Amino acid sequence: MVAVGGLMVACLLVEISCGAVEAVRVQERRLSSGRILGSTDPNTTFAFYKFSLQWPPASCDSSLKCVGDIPAEFTIHGLWPQLSNDKGVPAYAKNKSCTTLTPTRADQLPVILQTGNLVQQLMQAWPDLKNTSSLKTSQTFWSNEWTKHGMCSDYGDKPLDYFKAAINLRNNFVQAFKLERGVSYKVEEMVKKVKAAVNGTPEIACRTKKGGMGAKILLELRLCYKKGNPTPQGIQDCKVSYSGVCKSTLDELTLL
Ligand SMILES: *[C@@H]1O[C@H](CO)[C@@H](O)[C@H](O)[C@H]1NC(C)=O
Ligand SMILES: *[C@@H]1O[C@H](CO)[C@@H](O)[C@H](O)[C@H]1NC(C)=O
Ligand SMILES: *[C@@H]1O[C@H](CO)[C@@H](O)[C@H](O)[C@H]1NC(C)=O
Repeated sequence: MVAVGGLMVACLLVEISCGAVEAVRVQERRLSSGRILGSTDPNTTFAFYKFSLQWPPASCDSSLKCVGDIPAEFTIHGLWPQLSNDKGVPAYAKNKSCTTLTPTRADQLPVILQTGNLVQQLMQAWPDLKNTSSLKTSQTFWSNEWTKHGMCSDYGDKPLDYFKAAINLRNNFVQAFKLERGVSYKVEEMVKKVKAAVNGTPEIACRTKKGGMGAKILLELRLCYKKGNPTPQGIQDCKVSYSGVCKSTLDELTLL
């Protein structure tokens, strides 16, 4: 007994000296997700969600041929499980050990989303800009996002919850955050405005404007969320505040 107690004390001391904070975080992840995530290897550990919103006028300002009405509000690109090194969790097809669940197959989605009454909301919040009036085109987009990201999320066997969570995050965001179109903002100004609205540092993804002689535009705005139960739970700061062609927080970009 005494020896065992001594070992426990030793372990505790080792944990504290080796990084108790990380140990507690791992413990929390285990508790909140209800399953053991194994290692803290940044290359293989699902650590947080990245929620990617596109600015449709900018997505369509490219080789992408958009058909139908182009929304003038943020729409969803995807809800992505990320590794702690900020790379995406590899798709289920590439690494089945990303989840202990048996994920719902993508070919089951059309019926599930229909019976779950989500299609109309999805067409508004998560349309495929290639043809915003085509349900079929958007269904392909949702299936691709599910296959690439959803199956390895905490919702692998609960696609309705996955799509509902994304719709809610998006609807809350567009209500809380508004920018004036045609106006230029420094990356740091945009970050500040997002932070004031939702209390988390976003990742601002920039692209160059077509025929704009190098002028930068806002392409996507990404928000980062903690894994949790329910999941995603609570916003957190994204690891980088800009990406794409933006190289500094002082870069100026326009909201098309
Ligand atoms: C993570 O991946 C990078 C590059 O893919 C590699 O250099 C590094 O050693 C890996 N880290 C661990 C802890 O395996
Ligand atoms: C697959 O995922 C598991 C658990 O997350 C990890 O240990 C393993 O290294 C991954 N393999 C590849 C090829 O990414
Ligand atoms: C877009 O979708 C609508 C409705 O399904 C269809 O009638 C139309 O042909 C599509 N347009 C293109 C260019 O694919």
